[in-house]
Amino acid sequence: MSTINNSRRNFIKHSGIALLGSSLPISLVELAFAETTQNFSFAYISDSHIQHIKGAEFVRNWDQGLKRAVAEANLLTPKPDFVIFGGDLAQLGTKEELDHGAEMLSALSPKVHHVMGEHDYYLDLGEYWEKLFGPQYYSFDHKGVHFVVLNSIRTYDEWTYKRWPTNVQRMAEMAGLDNPNGSPFMVGDEQRKWLKADLAKIPKTTPVVVFSHSPLQKIYKGWNFWTEDAEQIQAMLKPFKQASVIYGHVHQIQYNQIGNISFNSVMATAWPWPYPQAYAQAEQYLPKLTVPMNRADPFFERDATGWQFINMANGRVDMHFSLDSNNSRTVGFNKSKKRPEDTVYPSEAKRTAPQTHY
Ligand SMILES: [Fe+2]
Ligand SMILES: [Fe+2]
Repeated sequence: MSTINNSRRNFIKHSGIALLGSSLPISLVELAFAETTQNFSFAYISDSHIQHIKGAEFVRNWDQGLKRAVAEANLLTPKPDFVIFGGDLAQLGTKEELDHGAEMLSALSPKVHHVMGEHDYYLDLGEYWEKLFGPQYYSFDHKGVHFVVLNSIRTYDEWTYKRWPTNVQRMAEMAGLDNPNGSPFMVGDEQRKWLKADLAKIPKTTPVVVFSHSPLQKIYKGWNFWTEDAEQIQAMLKPFKQASVIYGHVHQIQYNQIGNISFNSVMATAWPWPYPQAYAQAEQYLPKLTVPMNRADPFFERDATGWQFINMANGRVDMHFSLDSNNSRTVGFNKSKKRPEDTVYPSEAKRTAPQTHY
């Protein structure tokens, strides 16, 4: 990494946002550099929740979401350098679900890097997933950018190893939202130690992109839109000139900026979650959000699934959302205000109120 010259390392200011017409469950991230031969993009597919019924039967909707995303990723021009799968490939972490998901993903022509989701993990603590996809956390360098993949959905040892009589029950308890028997996600000591050593080798001017399943910020604990040791990870990213965290899990559009770190969620291929009413109630848990969460309309069945084009040309993420059955949205980084800004809902008065969750 230290041999990379400045022109390659510095992102150029802006390269424009390509508008993608179709509404498909996939995200595309483009990184543009001063030296244009170094430009590249990667695609991101997340939260497919492949669900086994019995025998060879799986929930059709979730299969279809993933199949469409894979087909579109293969058709992208220019071809993405790699694909990230953002976790929750399976619904209940079974061999059948992981095998079926892996089979669909095997149709992808670019290399796939995998992120662990809680629905993949809590049946056998990632044992079978590792056989299929490799280590649960790792890093790699690509064209002047340092990429880190974390397993952010671990939790306290007592909960994981002692609380539940069976692995099946452990999985079921972690799979539900609003379940008081759940437990907060965390990266944990082992990985934080590894991350510290990993980042120590990287020059502070190198752009760093972290992929996690849960947000590495504290949004809403009841649904585990939350990572218990988020602040400690943020502190490790703070010395870098540019850092981005891209995460799945929330099945909805979220973006935030905390200091030098931009946060962006990617949409799910399976279904969108509504925004919890408790976003408003849980204010005391929130980091200082530069722009409140909002979405186009929670009552559109497939809202928050669709195309998401993420442009990282200036080191801050700009996004264009092409939403299914809804108006397109653009979130751009406002340099003078130093925060991402939604062009559709800029004021409180125009914003759609959070949905009541039952
Ligand atoms: Fe998910
Ligand atoms: Fe998840």
